[in-house]
Amino acid sequence: MAHLFAPLTLKTVTLRNRIGVSPMCMYAAEDGVANDWHLVHLGARAAGGAGLVIAEATAVAPEGRITPGCAGLWTEKQLEPLARVTRFLKQHGAVPGIQLAHAGRKAAAARPWEGGAHLSDAAGGWTPLGPSALAYGGGLDRVPREMSANDIARVEADFVAAAKRALAAGYEWLELHSAHGYLAHEFLSPLSNHRTDRYGGNFENRIRFLLETTRAVRGVWPERLPLTVRLSCTDWVDGGWTIDESVELARRLRAEGVDLIDCSSGGGVHAAKVPAAPGFHVPFAERIKREAGIATAVVGLITEPKQADAIVREGRADVVLLARELLRDPNWPLRAARELGQAGVLPPPPPYARAW
Ligand SMILES: Cc1cc2nc3c(=O)[nH]c(=O)nc-3n(C[C@H](O)[C@H](O)[C@H](O)COP(=O)(O)O)c2cc1C
Repeated sequence: MAHLFAPLTLKTVTLRNRIGVSPMCMYAAEDGVANDWHLVHLGARAAGGAGLVIAEATAVAPEGRITPGCAGLWTEKQLEPLARVTRFLKQHGAVPGIQLAHAGRKAAAARPWEGGAHLSDAAGGWTPLGPSALAYGGGLDRVPREMSANDIARVEADFVAAAKRALAAGYEWLELHSAHGYLAHEFLSPLSNHRTDRYGGNFENRIRFLLETTRAVRGVWPERLPLTVRLSCTDWVDGGWTIDESVELARRLRAEGVDLIDCSSGGGVHAAKVPAAPGFHVPFAERIKREAGIATAVVGLITEPKQADAIVREGRADVVLLARELLRDPNWPLRAARELGQAGVLPPPPPYARAW
């Protein structure tokens, strides 16, 4: 029976266990170029035993960065520092993954510890892009420029170019970010997408940007490697994106060659009330897995080894992603293995052996 420490093979890639580091922006890059911080942050979690380590939302174009400190893959000089990270992760048993992203109307913000609000041009910001000229609100008040058909084609091409660079940098797991109110999610939700062309209006039109991007990326991302998509499974707002739509979208994505849906929620509507509670996205992951017939990952307030193990054992998701708990404890997988009686399958790195 599958459990937290059972390996998982997707395509030709095998995770040593079902624990993944959820993508987390570090806001520590310069000109989108990763550095020692990224190596230490991601590397420590590979040494801590995670099966999958997904690098932060990495911008496919400069205007798609959430903040000026976000990492990117829009130019060649950004490749080698990431390749250094992937080499380290592989040496220490983790599969290197990366999340490719465009922040849409939420781009051009200050780092969270600098307030997180939109930056003026004078303060280093820029005009964000979006499906419609509608601001997010709540400090992210810059009105995005409504994307033209050319803009859409260019950003889709940017995703493709970044996917090629990710491959060259040694990544083996690619995630397209279509959650948390960033560009692809903005197209999905009728609350941020008021377009009247073929990219807005009905469900078919709102999913078109993501489907086209996925198809184009699948064309360059090798068939042997997993392609995954993170979704906000609901906006948590009446009239917004729904879990029913997510299930149908997951079916369409599966048909485009997507191998796994990473289930999150929210972030698209400033006023939304998100009922965050331990494991609150698990029912979404379970529904998508069952009804769309595709593997799922789940994230969100998963902190306890038994909780994580039960999600996998009960077949509710295939991979469990942790974010903040892995910031608190990079060695959480090693600890969980001991708590669950699986120490034999996940030994600590030899230099740490005397601590366990
Ligand atoms: C510091 C930090 C940075 C984050 N950056 C990203 C990101 O780049 N991409 C993303 O999809 N989610 C991002 N998130 C959200 C997490 O991946 C995760 O979905 C969320 O924190 C809930 O999981 P948790 O309860 O285990 O922390 C970030 C979260 C944190 C705490």
